[in-house]
Amino acid sequence: MTDSIHAAERIAKLRQEIERHNHLYYIEAKPELSDYEFDKLLEQLIALERQFPDLVTPDSPSQRVGGAITKEFVSVTHREPMLSLSNTYSPGDVEEFYNRVKKLLALEGVDEHEMVAELKFDGVAISLLYRDGLLVRGATRGDGVQGDDITVNIRTIPTVPLKIEDVGEIEVRGEVFMRKEDFEQLNESRPEEERFANPRNATAGTLKLQDSAEVACRRMSFVAYYLKGIRDESTAHFSRLKLLEELGFSTGNHYQLCRELHDINEFIAEWSEKRWKLPYETDGVVLKLNAVTLWDKLGATAKSPRWAIAWKYPAQQARTVLNAVVFQVGRLGTITPVAELEPVLLAGSTVSRSTLHNFDEIGRLGVMIHDRVIIEKSGEVIPKVISVVLEERPSDTQPIVIPSNCPECGTPLARTEGEVSYYCANEEECPAQIRGRLLHFASRNAMDIKSLGKALVDQLVAIRLVKDVGDLYFLQEPQLEKLERMGRKSAQNLVRALDESRAKSYERLLYALGIRHVGRATARELSQAYPSLEALMQASEEQLATVPDIGPVVAHSICDYFAKPSVPHFLEKLNAAGLPLSASESTEQINRNFEGLTVLFTGGLDRYDRLTASELVMERGGRVVNSVSKKTGLVVAGHDPGSKLDKALKLGVRVVSEDEFEAML
Ligand code: IVH
Repeated sequence: MTDSIHAAERIAKLRQEIERHNHLYYIEAKPELSDYEFDKLLEQLIALERQFPDLVTPDSPSQRVGGAITKEFVSVTHREPMLSLSNTYSPGDVEEFYNRVKKLLALEGVDEHEMVAELKFDGVAISLLYRDGLLVRGATRGDGVQGDDITVNIRTIPTVPLKIEDVGEIEVRGEVFMRKEDFEQLNESRPEEERFANPRNATAGTLKLQDSAEVACRRMSFVAYYLKGIRDESTAHFSRLKLLEELGFSTGNHYQLCRELHDINEFIAEWSEKRWKLPYETDGVVLKLNAVTLWDKLGATAKSPRWAIAWKYPAQQARTVLNAVVFQVGRLGTITPVAELEPVLLAGSTVSRSTLHNFDEIGRLGVMIHDRVIIEKSGEVIPKVISVVLEERPSDTQPIVIPSNCPECGTPLARTEGEVSYYCANEEECPAQIRGRLLHFASRNAMDIKSLGKALVDQLVAIRLVKDVGDLYFLQEPQLEKLERMGRKSAQNLVRALDESRAKSYERLLYALGIRHVGRATARELSQAYPSLEALMQASEEQLATVPDIGPVVAHSICDYFAKPSVPHFLEKLNAAGLPLSASESTEQINRNFEGLTVLFTGGLDRYDRLTASELVMERGGRVVNSVSKKTGLVVAGHDPGSKLDKALKLGVRVVSEDEFEAML
């Protein structure tokens, strides 16, 4: 009983602390804890809730880690239709909208036409319902009338409050999106052929996932831009946005009240530059009449309200000259033609390269060297060539010739039937492929070896100090010190970073190997189905294809990988390097020092509260009891112990001090 009261207090404290840090991190962008420290807090909460399942509530931050699997999302009807906005690209239309609203209101005898200008976030619209201060439903827009109930997935978004002050039954609408950085990280973790084209697609794809634990890993964000249901219906839109902030929602903080048309135009002009500096994508500006009481008066067309409009930025395009084409060799040997462009300013940065994807794409564009080309950036991080200005084709153009040999190692290129890409089959020796594998191995989602950057990898491969990732672990400081731009300190750092990477998980290692089609999610599935590399190697294609989410193509690719003659030797090297070739080797090692032991605490401990001490024992295989008997294996006696100590001594039970207990841990 007392344990559960203690636990309830501790849980409440932890939750408050976690939500506070969440807010500091995501909304105020002023984190006070490292990711590691934050994760530790969350882990503590989860462990406690597991121990006291009755204390779990839907608003607990532990509910953000997901776990529920949904077969099919239930369809729900919106309380009022989720309309979209009428879009315009022309400044004339904005003026017309402003004048029209002003005139309509004047007809009603109203001289109130202030507008709120907001950013148009490029993501996916959702609706949230709060009842008694708790998030009770999160739904997609769907067809505007009915959407899908995706509450389980929405709960995982850190900037969606699970609990707010109780202000009655309210509906909050807003946009789920992925920050550019989180989008890039997600894409980095996926096999090349499964990457999302832009953050919006990634968000839409993620919200529909059936596995909420996977959703939680993908880091999405939420901004609120609409609030309905509050008691004071006369509250203007601007004040509603402020209220949303007070309730703990993020609004993005970049909205403004505009009295006159020129204020609107200034806002649009200002953000058409500043938008590039935002950590997320915006695709325009939304204007809404501030006086919500007048919204109904203006009404709506079938699709969009008459009290709002979206001004969309034109697609970002630029004209430049294609100077040359180089051919890059990827870590899997795929050849990618890359256009070298006359540097040009586009969407806030200078662009001098752009991928041409493959040779079919070159054919489709009909592009030649020295052509004038149009490049475009539309959501994608990397700009692409979208067309050739044929009317201005110069006389000195030259065709782009498909190379017959690998530009890195000279091996004749091959092309698989039915595939668009050419590849270099010299997997073992091609320096570009070796470099690519090393960089993939060191990347953030793989072994996360920060000090192993591109320049260093280039050198290590060029002087043949390293041929595969296993070699990295046998590098010595003196060898490294001699390299260009290295020195003693950097050499030490690299050796330390490599050493630390040995403690990474087996799941990460599986991903880091760089097996074709095996992204982070597949690596996770594989690590669960086959908890050691040895077991995985012995699995047949048919067996592999029975693992969730693994189809015949992935299964084939895994078998192909392990069938390579060089693999046994390579894996031996990884084993000798001390890398985690099985799940048991890699899980954070908590010892089993209390296995089978029944432990009783009496008196106060200086360095642990009772609950933590109990957790520590249980994690290590022990059991914690409240009364002494002959079966009690150990009594930990703190200061001012009670009568239980006497009883224990009488029964001859082993008694230890806090120091001894700590040593046992
Ligand atoms: S208000 C009835 N405000 O744009 C008006 N929408 O084209 C409801 N969007 O479906 C929408 N930023 O997904 C509003 N600041 C903002 C927005 C915004 C992005 C999206 C939203 C909506 C679409 C309409």
